[in-house]
Amino acid sequence: MNIACIGTGFVGVVTAGVLAKLGNKVIGLDIDAKKVESLRSGVVPFYEPGLQELLVETQKIGNLTFTTDYATGIRDADIVMIMVGTPSAPDGQADLKYVFAASESLAPYLKEDTIVIVKSTVPPGTNAKVRDIIKSKTNVNFEMASVPEFLKEGTAVEDTLHPDRAVIGVESDRARDILTELHKPLTTNVIVMRPESAQMCKYAANNYLATRITFINQIADLCEKNGADVQEVIRGIGQDKRIGTHYWYPGLGYGGSCFPKDVKEIAAYAHAVGEPESMFIKIDDLNEKRIPKLMVKYDMLVGGFAGKTVAILGLSFKKNTNDTRVAPSLQVIPWLLEKGAKIVATDPKAIEDIKPLLPASVTYVGTPAEAISGAHVTMLLVEWDDYQDLDLAELSQAMQEPRFFFDTRNQYNPVEVIASGLKYKGIGR
Ligand code: UGA
Repeated sequence: MNIACIGTGFVGVVTAGVLAKLGNKVIGLDIDAKKVESLRSGVVPFYEPGLQELLVETQKIGNLTFTTDYATGIRDADIVMIMVGTPSAPDGQADLKYVFAASESLAPYLKEDTIVIVKSTVPPGTNAKVRDIIKSKTNVNFEMASVPEFLKEGTAVEDTLHPDRAVIGVESDRARDILTELHKPLTTNVIVMRPESAQMCKYAANNYLATRITFINQIADLCEKNGADVQEVIRGIGQDKRIGTHYWYPGLGYGGSCFPKDVKEIAAYAHAVGEPESMFIKIDDLNEKRIPKLMVKYDMLVGGFAGKTVAILGLSFKKNTNDTRVAPSLQVIPWLLEKGAKIVATDPKAIEDIKPLLPASVTYVGTPAEAISGAHVTMLLVEWDDYQDLDLAELSQAMQEPRFFFDTRNQYNPVEVIASGLKYKGIGR
């Protein structure tokens, strides 16, 4: 099939690469000429395992090309996928201006019977608006569909190649058959529904997961009040098949480019459609307040951060990505600097990305050993593989009193950390 992927951001590039690998002829279309030039030469502007290789391989066999020209990108497409950004509008709802601009630009070049898919995360009802925009610029027949994306940064290529399911929102049997065929090589678990339901699936999935994280963080906070260990609680409740042991990592709250935004969006959407008592307003509020609340506690534990050197391990929003959007480091480090701490920070991939976003007084080093050397406090913010197996005896020796180890991802056994001469504080234990 000929497929046009509009928007070569994270989702656009991964989707284009995977569809090209399956044997489709894919054109990635973006108005950013610099980005297109870089992708053409096989350079991905962010770190994502396996993506660079995928783009080089699929371009080499001629299945993937990139263009800035709408006529070139759209005129032969059987399927057009809109995957442009949807930043938050001032009222918290998704700002759809790029989706609408792309719809206007693509319309004049559509061929007969093309399927136009909105893959960007948008509220139900958006397809009707996109349809109207396109209709005002063309006389050809086309149809709209919604196919949400469930990939995670850090495992995006794998997630797209082997999804748990494909959710396909369509209005006709023809679109159902074509899109089922397209997704068949990826999964046999194709779930067909109306477009509005498909769009709600995306919001429901992300908001459920964000709620789950907030839930376990709340339980963790209660564990700290009574001597329980949240990791033991997770083991205990996870055996209930309705609950499960997966995706239960308490910490500093959820970050990244999706959850914080999607929770705010669904809360604002609920308000806009006459449901002001949305629980998502509370979830958002709890997540926003989480880091400041924990930092106050940490400050008390170390006897005040003023004059102390803090080693920060992990600057991205999670491991295996250099994405720093809503990363814990962006809240934690300014808070510590404000209190008079000195910061020595490290990350395997995100140092160059975070530098412009943090005060110039932060010192960056290449390894955890360099960061920890002479520090009063070590704070593990992201569980990169490199930080999962630190030599605790060396850590203790390299640090100076009070030798506090804040393990905000519960990666270490508290008993072993304390035995090595460090003071330990995890989450909910
Ligand atoms: C998330 C969803 O997991 C994807 O399914 C979805 O497609 C994507 O958003 C999107 O909407 O595009 P992602 O933001 O890449 O993917 O990252 P996750 O691995 O889900 O983590 C999100 C945040 O939650 C991170 O800050 C992570 O540290 C935190 N988290 C995750 C926890 O604090 N605890 C957990 O148990 C899991």
